[in-house]
Amino acid sequence: MRRKLFGVILAVCIGWFKAEALTDAAITTKPEVVNDQNQTSATLSCNLTNPSSPIKGYYWTHNGKTIDKSESTTGKAFIEHEIKKIDYHSAGLYACVFQTEPEVNATIEVKVLPHVVAYKHSENANEKDKAVLICVSHGYPLPTDWSWYKLSEDESEKTPIVNGTIDKYEIKNTPNKTTLYVKDLDINEDMGMYQCQGTNEIGSASDKIQLRVRSQLAALWPFLGIVAEVIILITIIFIYEKRRKPDEINDGINRKISFY
Ligand SMILES: *[C@@H]1O[C@H](CO)[C@@H](O)[C@H](O)[C@H]1NC(C)=O
Ligand SMILES: *[C@@H]1O[C@H](CO)[C@@H](O)[C@H](O)[C@H]1NC(C)=O
Ligand SMILES: *[C@@H]1O[C@H](CO)[C@@H](O)[C@H](O)[C@H]1NC(C)=O
Ligand SMILES: *[C@@H]1O[C@H](CO)[C@@H](O)[C@H](O)[C@H]1NC(C)=O
Ligand SMILES: *[C@@H]1O[C@H](CO)[C@@H](O)[C@H](O)[C@H]1NC(C)=O
Repeated sequence: MRRKLFGVILAVCIGWFKAEALTDAAITTKPEVVNDQNQTSATLSCNLTNPSSPIKGYYWTHNGKTIDKSESTTGKAFIEHEIKKIDYHSAGLYACVFQTEPEVNATIEVKVLPHVVAYKHSENANEKDKAVLICVSHGYPLPTDWSWYKLSEDESEKTPIVNGTIDKYEIKNTPNKTTLYVKDLDINEDMGMYQCQGTNEIGSASDKIQLRVRSQLAALWPFLGIVAEVIILITIIFIYEKRRKPDEINDGINRKISFY
């Protein structure tokens, strides 16, 4: 009876110790996410409780890369990292890493509006050809949606461009890049201002691209100009030479003599 009771108590104790040892180290982050667009700076903090072994040090990472000078060999369990300016450069996935056995970490997301910018703000193409308009995005998170619009002349109205509805347009998207193909270019229809817009969970941002369409003839003008110039020049020389012909021989001899 006594032995049984002792056994039970022992078992309970072992179980309790086991449970204690198994209690995972936990990290409380503050804030959990930064997504307020009015916020211009932030202080991220991590609080480690129940470390599995003494803390040998810590460091912070940004998008998987260790942040310069964020490493420390102090055994602090509460650590902070300051982001002085929140923008698309500093946005991303932050992690605090505590050097215990094993290492433990926790992540904090810093989210901003997408930063959308046209690859080229002005694009030229020839009539009947294809124009390629490109916008790229940086920041975190990247856009989950891209849209294209054609703007009216005074830019007060915008018409959505839908992929593949007519053969004219084709859109290709990746999270950080959108490409609009405008095919079979027409001077009157397709010339003008285009807008690309990227949207993430925080909001939208856009940029504009001016498309200029040259007539096929216009592309030939510089060449025709040179041809015309050459023809005129040859004609002038030809006429001039013909006119001088009678006294050409004399002139030639005189020049030779005077030269020597
Ligand atoms: C940001 O600031 C504007 C005005 O200053 C306010 O109306 C808006 O609610 C604020 N947004 C957030 C998310 O706090
Ligand atoms: C860290 O977390 C522990 C346990 O939740 C709490 O007692 C302590 O006050 C926290 N430390 C800081 C600096 O917030
Ligand atoms: C955080 O921990 C997870 C799981 O242990 C690991 O896969 C990841 O690489 C760690 N991240 C960093 C920045 O150390
Ligand atoms: C647009 O249509 C083409 C051809 O149907 C397709 O390959 C492409 O993925 C589509 N793009 C988008 C953004 O849906
Ligand atoms: C877009 O992402 C791809 C793959 O993730 C990367 O190779 C490329 O450099 C990125 N482009 C830009 C403009 O950031």
